Amino acid sequence: MLGNFSYHNPTKLYFGEDSLGYLKQELANYGKNVLLVYGGGSIKKSGLYDEIMGILQECGKNVAQVAGVMPNPTAEKLREGVKIARENNSDFILAVGGGSVCDYSKAVSVSVHCNDDPWDKYYIRYEEPDCDIVPVGCVLTMAGTGSEMNGGAVITNHEQHLKIGHVFGDDVMPKFSILNPRYTMTLPVYQMVAGIYDIMNHICEQYFSGEDDNTSDYISEGLMKGLIHASRIAVKDPQDYEARSNIMWTATWALNTLVSRGKSTDWMVHMLGQAVGAYTDATHGMTLAAVSLPYYRYIMPYGLKKFARFATQVWDIPAQGKTDEQLAEQGLSAMESWMKELGLVMKISELGAVEEMIDGIADATIILKGGYKVLDRDEVVKILKASM
Ligand code: NZQ
Ligand code: ZN
Repeated sequence: MLGNFSYHNPTKLYFGEDSLGYLKQELANYGKNVLLVYGGGSIKKSGLYDEIMGILQECGKNVAQVAGVMPNPTAEKLREGVKIARENNSDFILAVGGGSVCDYSKAVSVSVHCNDDPWDKYYIRYEEPDCDIVPVGCVLTMAGTGSEMNGGAVITNHEQHLKIGHVFGDDVMPKFSILNPRYTMTLPVYQMVAGIYDIMNHICEQYFSGEDDNTSDYISEGLMKGLIHASRIAVKDPQDYEARSNIMWTATWALNTLVSRGKSTDWMVHMLGQAVGAYTDATHGMTLAAVSLPYYRYIMPYGLKKFARFATQVWDIPAQGKTDEQLAEQGLSAMESWMKELGLVMKISELGAVEEMIDGIADATIILKGGYKVLDRDEVVKILKASM
């Protein structure tokens, strides 16, 4: 049964090749002191930085900058951004980049007017913001996280070996996001496919939970089928606009809070992947790819019906004459073949994880209760070892 829920997503989207044309009119709604946030330089190379600076100047904005937001942004970098925002009285944050830049900007937005240390407040104590929030807008350059239309902000603390996501509410979601699939075309293939698997796994995390036959399941199956189709085109020809635009749009729908309405969700692959990330600083989507199959094969007996449905509805495996076990296994094998076809990393050892880290990674894995099987620590260790 679909549970009761409320649904509201405040982010306004502009999608397509002309979408940056809307930035000027959006900026008119916000203050004069803009904090421009970006990553390690891809936007300078692509020319997007100059284009955006031109628009900001045309709009008469005072621009302060936080450059060098790294993949898996750190607590230390977060504190630096908060300081720069305070010094410049920033009243609007423009994030230009991938999920890391977008997440980071949200984390800064809730910390500028707050006296507490942001890591302790939002990631250790998991408190909600009780101060003014600086509005954020986003120009997305990488498809994957869904950060452009959600309240998620994942921060890594290397000293504490923790990578934790805080899912903030409506007030923190980007006010607008500009999604131009052309911007994603300069991504290295490694990042493109990591993003594709991140999208797939966001859908799986919400699909493999609960036994219900509800609208979310059908939406999820449609999104997965579309993604698999587009991904196969994009790996052969990364410049295929249609495939890249469908991937970008699927990423947004996969994690803009819609498909989880009224149902339980799992998120254990993300908990395992984030713990691996806390130790290795590896690319997010690859950490998920490397732990997924050992995890899904482990929990499959507890959610057999859904795994069998996954095989027939997502991978078009004929059901006739097969048991649920056979179907379920064939569905996961089909996913495995597709993952290898994309060139995903299938082992955490290839991401820098070594045996001696397993205990620490297990300790850093937050155990959630929404999946088909609530894991205990020994099971987490078993899955991590199978992922080596
Ligand atoms: O830093 P630059 O130079 O921009 O390079 C980036 C970075 O090295 C590069 N890149 C991005 N767009 C590019 C490009 N290179 C060339 N051309 C472009 N157009 O790609 C690299 C990865 O970027 P990053 O932003 O780190 O990737 P992604 O979008 O996958 O974001 C990952 C972060 O998001 C978090 C992850 O944990 C990780 O910290 N997540 C956020 C979620 C959310 N908000 O809901 C959910 C996800 O599950 C995820 O946990
Ligand atoms: Zn993810």
